Amino acid sequence: MTFTIDGKQVLAALDRYLAESRQAGKPVIHQETIETIHGQLDLASVFREGGLSGSRLDRFLSAYLDNTTRLHHPGFMAHQVGCPHPSAALGSLIDGATNNAMAIYEMGPAAAAIEFFMINQLLERIGWDLMPLETTRRLTYDHGAGVLTHGGSLANMTALMAARNHMDPAIRENGCTGGLTIMAPDSCHYSVTKTAGILGIGEKNVFLLPTDRLGRIRPDQAVRSIETARERGLVIAALIANACATGTGLFDPIDAIADICQAHKIWFHVDGAHGGSLLFSKKYRHLLTGISKADSMILDAHKMLRTPTVCAALLMKQASCLDHAFEHTAGYLFHEKQQPGFDFIGQTLECTKAGLGLRFFMAFAALGETGMAGYIDTCIDLTRSAHAFLASQTDFDTPYPPETNILCFRYQGSDQDQLAIRDRLIHQGAFYLSSTTIEGQRYLRMVIMSPATSLNDIENLVAAIRRVANNF
Ligand SMILES: Cc1ncc(COP(=O)(O)O)c(C=O)c1O
Repeated sequence: MTFTIDGKQVLAALDRYLAESRQAGKPVIHQETIETIHGQLDLASVFREGGLSGSRLDRFLSAYLDNTTRLHHPGFMAHQVGCPHPSAALGSLIDGATNNAMAIYEMGPAAAAIEFFMINQLLERIGWDLMPLETTRRLTYDHGAGVLTHGGSLANMTALMAARNHMDPAIRENGCTGGLTIMAPDSCHYSVTKTAGILGIGEKNVFLLPTDRLGRIRPDQAVRSIETARERGLVIAALIANACATGTGLFDPIDAIADICQAHKIWFHVDGAHGGSLLFSKKYRHLLTGISKADSMILDAHKMLRTPTVCAALLMKQASCLDHAFEHTAGYLFHEKQQPGFDFIGQTLECTKAGLGLRFFMAFAALGETGMAGYIDTCIDLTRSAHAFLASQTDFDTPYPPETNILCFRYQGSDQDQLAIRDRLIHQGAFYLSSTTIEGQRYLRMVIMSPATSLNDIENLVAAIRRVANNF
C-alpha cells in the first residue's frame, strides 16, 4: 500500500513543516537557484528511475519543503495568497485522488453538489436569490447564479464577457464592431485590462474613471465620465469597482457607484477578489454596503478564506446572463440525458474543471462560519494596530489608515531604499514584505495573512528594517 505508507510520510512531514513555520523555526522565504534546487531534489534521477518512497521520499520532501515560501510563518506579510487551513488542503488531496471533472454533473456529482451549495451560500450573503435546487425550475424566475473558477482573473473575465454579451447578444458569434468600452479606475487589477484585450474591447479602450489620490473612484465625477464616454459614441459594457484595490487594500464606494450604474443602466461589476470575503465578517461587512445592487462580483477563496490555491467564485445577480455563456457544440458532452443535477459547464471557460468547491467547503468545515469571520477580523484588526504603531514612529510614513489587512508604509529614504530594505529582509529570511507604488512613490507593503503573526512581530519587523537600513 504505497499510497497509505507514502501518504503518512507526507502528512507527518507537512505536520512538522506547519509547526516549524508557525514557530518561525525556518526562514519565511529561502531562494536558491533553479540549478541548485534541481540538484537538491535529485530531479533527473528520480524522473528516470521512479520509485520515490521510503528514505528517498523523506529526502525529497525535506529538500522540497526547505525551498518553499512559508505562508504560515509569522513573518509572511507579502502577498494575498491565502494561508490555507490544513483541513482545506485535505480537500485538495481528495479532489486530486478522485479527479472528478465535475463541470458535467455525471462526472462528479458530489463535487458539483458542493459547488452548488457554496455558490448558494455566497449568493445568500450578497442578498441575491438562490439557485433553485430543483434544477428543472432554473430560469423559471429571476435568481442568482455563479460558478467556481480557477482563479480571480478567470472569474473577472467570465463576468465581463457575460456583461458584454448581455449588452449585445450577437457579439459572441459575430465579434466586436468597435466603440465598446469598460470603465474602471486605474487602480483596478491588471486582469481587468487583460480581459479588455481578450474580449476584443482593446486594452487601451478601457475608460479610466477619475479617482482620488489613493486610487478610489470618485462618484461625484463618475457621472460626467459616463456622459463623456457616451458623447464620444462609446458603448459601455460594464463599470468595474474594487473591493478592494490590490495595491492599497482600499474599497471603492460601492453603494454610491451602484446607484450611478443603476441610474445610467450600466452593468456594475465588483472585483472583490480580496475584500469579497468580508461577506463573512460582521465587523467589516459594511465595506461592501450596496453589493446587492451590483450585477456581478467575484471573490477569491484562496485569498482570505483559508482555501488552498486556486478557488475563485464568480457570482451573478441574474442567472440568465450567465447561463450558456460558453456552451458550444460537442457531441460527446451536450446531448439528451437523465439529469438529476446541474452541469456547470455552460458557465465556464474551462471544459475539465477541478472540484474546487471541496477545498473551499473544507476550510469552513474546519473553522465554521464564526471561526472564519474571526480569522478575517483578526487579520484586519492587527493590520490596523500595525498602522497605529508605524504611524507613531517618526522615521516611518503611512500614507493612509488601512481598511483591510493590506498596509502600505515607507521607511525614511529614497524609493530605491525601500526596495533595498525588502531585498535585505528577504535575504535574512525573518520577514517577507511586498512593495507597490502610490502616486508614483515606492512603498513597502504588508499583507497580514498568517494567524501566527502578532503585534510583537510587527515591532520586530520595524527593528529589523532600521537595522538593515542603517547598514546601507
Ligand atoms: C483585486 C484583484 N482582482 C483579481 C485578482 C486576480 O486573481 P487571481 O490571482 O486569483 O487570478 C487579484 C489578485 O491578486 C486581485 O487582487
